[in-house]
Amino acid sequence: MSEEILRMEGITKAYELGEETFLALKGVDLTVDRGEFLAVLGPSGSGKSTLMNIIGCLDVPTEGNYWLSGRLIADETESELARIRREEIGFIFQSFQLLQRQTAFENVELPLIYWGMGERERKNRVEEMLEKVGLADKMFNYPNQLSGGQQQRVAIARAIATNPTILLADEPTGALDQKTGHQVMDLFHELNDEGRTIIMITHDVKIAGHAGRIVRILDGEISEGVVEDA
Ligand SMILES: Nc1ncnc2c1ncn2[C@@H]1O[C@H](COP(=O)(O)OP(=O)(O)O)[C@@H](O)[C@H]1O
Ligand SMILES: [Mg+2]
Repeated sequence: MSEEILRMEGITKAYELGEETFLALKGVDLTVDRGEFLAVLGPSGSGKSTLMNIIGCLDVPTEGNYWLSGRLIADETESELARIRREEIGFIFQSFQLLQRQTAFENVELPLIYWGMGERERKNRVEEMLEKVGLADKMFNYPNQLSGGQQQRVAIARAIATNPTILLADEPTGALDQKTGHQVMDLFHELNDEGRTIIMITHDVKIAGHAGRIVRILDGEISEGVVEDA
C-alpha cells in the first residue's frame, strides 16, 4: 500500500491586478505518494512557482483544499505553518539561495540551529550531509568560492538536513549547465532511492525525464498521463 503524503483538490489561485483578476491556478487536483519522484513540467508563466509556493506553505490558495501528511493546511496556525516550512519541506531553488557570508558548513547548519539540535550532533549531521552531496572537502568554502553545481549541492544538503517529508525543488537546474544539471539529477536519484519524496518543478523536458512520474501544467491546469510531445 502506498501512503499518500500530499493531496490537493480544486486548488485555485487568483491574483488581483487592479480591477482585473488573473487565475494562475484553475482547479488543480494532485496527489503524491510517499517516496515518489514527481516532476511538474510546464512552460514559463504556466503557474509552476505559484503551485510550488502553495505546496511549500509559502502561500495560500484562493479556493480548494490542500492536505500535507493528512493535515488540512487551511486549519493550521501561522506558527505551525512556519514549523512545517522549516522542518517538513526541504526547499531547493534555481538561484540556490545560500547566505553569502556563511560557509557551506554554516549554511547547512542553520536549519538545525532553528530545529534546536545540540552543537555536537549538529556538527556530525552537517558533515554527514555535506559528505553525502560530495562536498566533504569544501565545507569551509563560502558560496562565491564554489561552482554553481557545488552551490546547488550545498543547498540540497541544507534542504535534507532536517529530514523533511518532501523535497521541493523549483527549477533546480535552471542556473546550471547541462552536465552539472544532470549531476544534480543523479543526486536526486540517490536521494529518491533512499526513500525521499521529491517534487521538482521544471520547464525542461529532459530534466523532467529523470522523475518517476510527470504531470504537465499549462495555463494553471494540470494534466497527467502520456507525454505526447516530448
Ligand atoms: N504576485 C502576482 N501577481 C500577479 N500575477 C502573478 C503573480 N505571481 C505570478 N503571477 C502570474 O501568474 C502566472 C503564473 O506565474 P508563475 O507561477 O510564476 O509561473 P511559472 O513559475 O510557471 O513561470 C504568470 O502569468 C504570472 O505573471
Ligand atoms: Mg517559476
